[in-house]
Amino acid sequence: MPVKIMCIVGARPNFMKIAPIMREFNKNDSGITARLLHTGQHYDAEMKAAFFDQLGIPEPDVDLGVGSGTHAQQTSEIMKRFEPELDAWTPNAILVVGDVNSTIACALVAVKKGIPVIHVEAGLRSYDREMPEEINRVLTDQIASLLFTTEKDAEANLTREGINSGRIRFVGNVMIDTLMMNREKAVSASQTFSRIKDGGLVSDLTSGYALVTLHRPSNVDVPAVLERILRTLVGISHRIPIVFPVHPRTRGQIDKFNLKGLLQQGRIAMMPPLGYHELLGLMESAKVVLTDSGGIQEETTALGVPCITLRENTERPITVTQGTNTIVGSDPEKIMLAFNEVMENGGKAGRVPELWDGRAAERIAREIGKSIKLV
Ligand code: UD1
Repeated sequence: MPVKIMCIVGARPNFMKIAPIMREFNKNDSGITARLLHTGQHYDAEMKAAFFDQLGIPEPDVDLGVGSGTHAQQTSEIMKRFEPELDAWTPNAILVVGDVNSTIACALVAVKKGIPVIHVEAGLRSYDREMPEEINRVLTDQIASLLFTTEKDAEANLTREGINSGRIRFVGNVMIDTLMMNREKAVSASQTFSRIKDGGLVSDLTSGYALVTLHRPSNVDVPAVLERILRTLVGISHRIPIVFPVHPRTRGQIDKFNLKGLLQQGRIAMMPPLGYHELLGLMESAKVVLTDSGGIQEETTALGVPCITLRENTERPITVTQGTNTIVGSDPEKIMLAFNEVMENGGKAGRVPELWDGRAAERIAREIGKSIKLV
């Protein structure tokens, strides 16, 4: 009898993680029957459909269509709509990835029904409880039966929290599986630039650019912080032009706080969120990436591109100790210091961490085959 696993996705960063896992599960000899459930946390075409299409993720078997809301609304709505789906299919386990609201919501519903939870990307800690994702990570790990980690240090974080090491497996990074699988399909930066209307800026971009992404509530929800960061970016853009695909949350805040005019003072190409292949192409050829994303810290490390992280901490310390990442927060002086270091000395060389080799999903499928009877 094949093992029935219900795989959960909800938000953009989940999609890159689930793609290689679904591919492994759907192989004939996997011994696994998988179903994909999308909570609908991210629903815009540019936040969802572009990723499903490009990454070859099968259409979800179930879409809960929850949409946006406060954390409580979103989390509770997912829980309410998820329960009957679980009752209807009765999987042997559910598999959740990452740290978004969909991750904890579904994990909580399953565990209370006695259905084991498998957590991919377990044990990452920023030790910053003001981040909603940190709460989601800690709680999901506590209730998971089988925990797959991307870096060795994650196991120490988990055992400190009382989690039995027998439940933890170091398998590597599924985000990097996806990155490796898609490098050949990356859309070149010049192709993406050709879609930008501002001709003058395009010719600037072709001789080198910085890539920026920004969406953390701590950076974009407080007007003074967002303004300080954008002002610093305008300064940077006078040295090197900036490409800035804007997350819907950030676009909303820029409008609300009247910061469009400020951005227009710089050489900044703003655009809607990009598909995976477009962003990968832009990352590969960027001189430097400035971001507050979790995944991009890892992807730049894998690509060997300097990354300046606009956060006070990271749950992915290996990108700093081994990779190309520098943590600077939102202080303009620190941002400029790191930026100048890249412009003058090329930034950190870095190396690719252990088991970020494109085969994490394969290890996950194998381990589930071996462990599912134990959970
Ligand atoms: C969520 C995740 C975060 C992840 C990020 C990547 C949580 C707690 N946070 O944050 O970890 O890094 O996704 O994108 O789960 N919106 C749209 N269209 C969409 C999706 C969202 O317009 O398709 C708007 C919403 O209306 C809302 C805002 O974007 O105003 C934020 O969306 P939400 O899913 O609540 O959180 P993110 O900030 O995207």
